[in-house]
Amino acid sequence: MIEDLWYKNAVMYNLDVGTFMDANGDGYGDFEGLMRRLDYLAGLGVTCLWLLPFQPTPDRDNGYDITDYYGVDPRHGSLGDFVEFMHQARGRGIRVLMDLVVNHTSDQHPWFKAARGDKRSPYREWYLWSKKRPKNFQEGMVFPGVQKTTWTYDREAREYYFHRFYDFQPDLNTQHPAVQAEIRRIIGFWLELGVCGFRVDAVPFVIETEGPGEKPLLRFDYLRELREFLQWRCGDAILLGEANVLPPEHLRYFGPEDDRMHMLFNFFVNQHLFYALASGDVRPLVKALRTTNTLPPSAQWGQFLRNNDELDLGRLTDTQRQAVFAQFGPDERMQLYQRGIRRRLAPMLGNRPQLELAYSLLFTLPGTPVIRYGDEIGMGDDLTLKERSAVRTPMQWSDEPHGGFSTAEKTVLPVIDTGVYAFGNVNVAVQRRDPESLLNWTERIIRMRKECPEIGWGTCKVLSTGSPHVLALRYDWRGNAVIAVHNFDTKPHSITLTAEAEQHERLVNLLSEQHSVADERGRHHIPLEAFGYRWFRVGSLQYILQREKV
Ligand code: NOJ
Repeated sequence: MIEDLWYKNAVMYNLDVGTFMDANGDGYGDFEGLMRRLDYLAGLGVTCLWLLPFQPTPDRDNGYDITDYYGVDPRHGSLGDFVEFMHQARGRGIRVLMDLVVNHTSDQHPWFKAARGDKRSPYREWYLWSKKRPKNFQEGMVFPGVQKTTWTYDREAREYYFHRFYDFQPDLNTQHPAVQAEIRRIIGFWLELGVCGFRVDAVPFVIETEGPGEKPLLRFDYLRELREFLQWRCGDAILLGEANVLPPEHLRYFGPEDDRMHMLFNFFVNQHLFYALASGDVRPLVKALRTTNTLPPSAQWGQFLRNNDELDLGRLTDTQRQAVFAQFGPDERMQLYQRGIRRRLAPMLGNRPQLELAYSLLFTLPGTPVIRYGDEIGMGDDLTLKERSAVRTPMQWSDEPHGGFSTAEKTVLPVIDTGVYAFGNVNVAVQRRDPESLLNWTERIIRMRKECPEIGWGTCKVLSTGSPHVLALRYDWRGNAVIAVHNFDTKPHSITLTAEAEQHERLVNLLSEQHSVADERGRHHIPLEAFGYRWFRVGSLQYILQREKV
């Protein structure tokens, strides 16, 4: 039954166990700490957690360099703690999605150690080697400016190995049957422990064939094989893919037969959304929404504002990217990899009305919202930290030392303790007590999002507003409809929704008492303040009450 697709209306929350809550006082967040914060997350309205990698790791890329796929890094606790945590999460109706990082391992993984140390080791073929330095050894780096090559000479192996990311992350040969069998074992292992699916890291690179001098091919069939296996083991588990690719490619990742990724992050909309926030002009965003609007029935977008990485603007035109840099990352220190901004949402936007606008939009974009931990309280960034660590500082719980994150002397990364975003000013405890805080506002908007299932399930249509600054989206599902209107400009605007939009005399405002009644020609005139937003249900209040009775 189609209602069983739970992810269509989930509220996802992305966190790193290592920076969320430290219960044992060693300076690293752990599963015990996360467990103690489950009621906070349930109260916020979160229904699904996406955990960043928590397996054993030398931690040179925030855990995306794994040395054992079947364990928990001792800094975060034990496998036993993980299972306890899963039990407690289930008790609160919270699902858990975890990262599947199988494009590469750490160079400290026993497989790579065996592979580099012995040509005859069965693990040798698990990685990609070249006797000579390939001509393209300086092409295709994901972290330009920091990463120098994609093929690096290994003295021990006496050959070059391929690494799409940092040189300490050798790529696995994912075409090899034994590697594929191991990936299935990893998936099967964590499914048995209760996860509801995987955020699949670096999907385009996982399915890409890579050999010295070879023209890479994308093996989309492999995605179908992964999904088949996953769903054979656990019918309602999902794959949420990280694939920052252009719109014509999206369908190939979802599968034209609706049989590959269940979800993809919508990087394309994300970047155009930031352009709209920076410029006040929604037209490119409208285009991005239109070009990503047609999906197979079981497919769904993951919509987000910020994530664990830099804000990647690589898909914008140069002029658009410069406009976003100028507004949100003018200082070179704020920019990264020649394409992005390493800042958190709150300091970029800098004011509450625009923050609310951005969040209100996140919860009314077509797809499932994915929140980044700490954004619900408006946490800041620390630009003194290296690369993406700027946006990965520990969660700020209170005004106690280290923001209540840890009782240790030193923490995994320093908690922000200076300036407007210092933990003394921005923390959960203070905001919990203030009914007008961003935290309580977010909780209310999440509640409203859950009461509008049309957004997750329905068909989305961009309505014409007659203004380049105002975006209006309408969702229809089972005879019910919701309209969301957002003004991206620093000035107020009034827009008119024509009868084409809803053909209903009344639009019920879901967030305040300012309902809209159509004029004699069936048009709705909607005044919006600077950065103003409205959520309307199409129809009379009585109609809604009837709906609620059902
Ligand atoms: C994407 C992750 O979000 C990023 O943090 C990581 O560096 C790369 N994949 C490599 O695993």
